[in-house]
Amino acid sequence: MCGIVGYVGDRNVYDILIKGLHRLEYRGYDSAGVALETPEGKLNIYKARGKVSNLEDFCKDKDLHASAGIAHTRWATHGEPSDNNAHPHYSQDGRLALVHNGTIENYKVLKDALIEHGCEFKSETDTEVLVQLIEYIKITNKCSLIDAVREALNQVQGAYAIAVLEKDHPHEIIAARKSSPLVIGIGKDEFFLASDATPIVEYTKEVVYVKDGEIAVMRKGEGLKLLTLDNVEAQIDVAELQLSISQLEKGGYPHFMLKEIFQQPETLLDCIRGRVVDGGKTIKLNGVEDNQEVFKNARRIIIVACGTSWHAGLLGKYLIQEMCNIPVEVEYASEFRYNHPVLFDDDIVIAISQSGETADTLEAIKIAKRHGAFVYGISNVVGSSIPRETDSGTYIHVGPEIGVASTKAFTGQVMVLTMLAMCVGRLRGVLSEEKVEEIGKCILEVPELVKKVLELNKDIERLSAIYTYAKNFLYLGRGYSYPTALEGALKLKEISYIHAEGYPAAEMKHGPIALIDAEMPSVIIAPYDHLYEKIVNNVQQVKARGGSIIAIVSEGDNEISKIADHVLEVPRVPECLTPLITSIPLQLLSYYIAINKGKDVDMPRNLAKSVTVE
Ligand code: F6R
Repeated sequence: MCGIVGYVGDRNVYDILIKGLHRLEYRGYDSAGVALETPEGKLNIYKARGKVSNLEDFCKDKDLHASAGIAHTRWATHGEPSDNNAHPHYSQDGRLALVHNGTIENYKVLKDALIEHGCEFKSETDTEVLVQLIEYIKITNKCSLIDAVREALNQVQGAYAIAVLEKDHPHEIIAARKSSPLVIGIGKDEFFLASDATPIVEYTKEVVYVKDGEIAVMRKGEGLKLLTLDNVEAQIDVAELQLSISQLEKGGYPHFMLKEIFQQPETLLDCIRGRVVDGGKTIKLNGVEDNQEVFKNARRIIIVACGTSWHAGLLGKYLIQEMCNIPVEVEYASEFRYNHPVLFDDDIVIAISQSGETADTLEAIKIAKRHGAFVYGISNVVGSSIPRETDSGTYIHVGPEIGVASTKAFTGQVMVLTMLAMCVGRLRGVLSEEKVEEIGKCILEVPELVKKVLELNKDIERLSAIYTYAKNFLYLGRGYSYPTALEGALKLKEISYIHAEGYPAAEMKHGPIALIDAEMPSVIIAPYDHLYEKIVNNVQQVKARGGSIIAIVSEGDNEISKIADHVLEVPRVPECLTPLITSIPLQLLSYYIAINKGKDVDMPRNLAKSVTVE
C-alpha cells in the first residue's frame, strides 16, 4: 500500500527510482512522483496522476540530474488520486520534500494548529501535514532536520514509513518507520531505500530492515546511522537478501497472475520441501516442534487474517478441527481488533498474511500478545513485520507474489495449515501414524496433480468466453469446498469487477436461490467427499430454476456431470486436500474472464497488494 523508493550515491538516481517504482507499483498505482536533489542542492519535484508510466511521460523534458532522490507510488487514503495529492510533498518554504506510506491519525488536530501558525496547505493529504510539521519544528527550534523529524514523529499518531530530502543537503536522505515497512540496501558509498527489497535486489544483497520507531540517516561517504525516537543510537543488523531478479519478472507470461498460477506445482513443492519427509510418514514444522507443549495444551485456536488469507484461515479451521480436535474460531483481523476479544493464556492465535505487513492483522497480533496468547504466524515475505511480531511461525516459501490477486500464496497457506494440522494432530494423539502417512503420501503427489489440473488451461479459456457476459455469479460448495467457493468468488470480483458471491451450497435455499435465473451462472465445487450426495441435491435445485452450472468435479464423476452445463474434472485426492486442487480452475476462470473483459488483472482498480492502512 503505497511504495517508497530512495537512492543516494553516484548512479543515475532517476533511473533507479523509476525502476524501483515499477517494482513497487503492485502496492498502489493511482499517482506517482519523484523528488530529485541536484548535486548543487536544488530540489525538483515531479508528480503525475495514474501509473508510473504517466510520470515517466511527464518527466521526459525535465531536469533529471541528481545526487539523491526519493519517489512514491500512491494508493489514495486522504484525498482523491490527483497531481496535487500525489507525493512527494513540499514544505511551505520548499526546503523539504517528503514521501510517506501509512496514515497519520491525528493529522486534523496537527493541521488546524499549523494553519493557526500561518501554514498553507496545497493538498488534502495527511502527508503534507507531516512535512509542514517537520519544517515548523525545524524553524521554531532552530534545529537540524534529524531533530525536527524526531520531534515531529513523537507528536504523530498512526503508521508511517517516510523519506525526507532537504534542500542544500544533496547527499543525504533521512527515513523512519512505524508499522509500515522500510528496508535499506547498503552499497559501496551509496544507499538504497524501499518499502520492500524488490527495487534493491539488483544492486546489493546487503540489507537492513528498519525497525519500528527507528530513524535512519543515509549520507554518502558515511556509514548508516540508526537512531531511536529517544535519540539513542540503535544497533544495525545487516541481513543477506534471499531474492533473485528472475523471481520478479514475468518469465514469458503475459501477466504475473498467470505466471503465479502456473508456478504452483513448484511453489507447493518448495512449501513442503523438508517438511513432509520419510515418504510422507513424518511432518516436520519447526515452529510446532519448538513449541510442543503450547500446542499440546492449547484449549482453543483463533485464526486472524484478511481477504484471501482469511479464506485460507477458514480452511485451517476445517483442517484443525478434523485432525486435532481443537475448537477453532476464524476472525477477520479488522473485526477482531475491535470486538473486545476474550482470550485466555492457553489460546493460540494464528495470524495468516502473505505480505506479512497487513495493518489489521498486525494490530490483531499485538492485541493477542497483550492478552497473553501465544501467536503463530504464517507468512510469505521473509523478514516482514508479522514474522517478527509473532512468537513462532512458518513461512509458506512460495516466492514473491506480485499479481495483486493472490493465487500461489493461497495454496501455500492452505498447504502450511494442512501440515500444521497434521503435526499438531499427531502430537495430541488425535491423528494416527497410519493416517499421517496416508495423507502425507498424497501431499507429496499434490505438485504433480496441480500440474495435471493446469492442463485444463485451454478448456477454461474457451469456457470463459461463454460466461464473460454475466453480471453476477454464485459460487457454491460444502465442507472444504465452501471456503474454496468464497475464494473463487473473491478472485472473480477483484479482477473482472463482476459481482460474485460465495455461499455454502445448502444455505442457498435460505435466500440466494431467489437470484437464480438463466442470466446467473453458478460455479459449483463438488469433488468426491463425504458431502457429495448432499451437494448433488443442491445442484439439482439450481438446475430446476433455470440456472446454468459450471461444476468442478472429481475425475470419473457421473452424477453432477450429467446435470451441469459445463464440467471441469480434477484428480481425486483425500477430502482435506481438495481445496489445493479445486482452487486452481477457479483461479484460471477468473483470469480469463477478466482478460476477455479487457481488465488489468495484475493491477485491478482500487486495489493494492499490501494493505498497510487500517
Ligand atoms: C485477494 C488478496 C487480498 C489479500 C488481503 C490480505 O486476492 O490478495 O484479499 O489476501 O489483503 O493480505 P495479506 O495476506 O498480505 O495479509
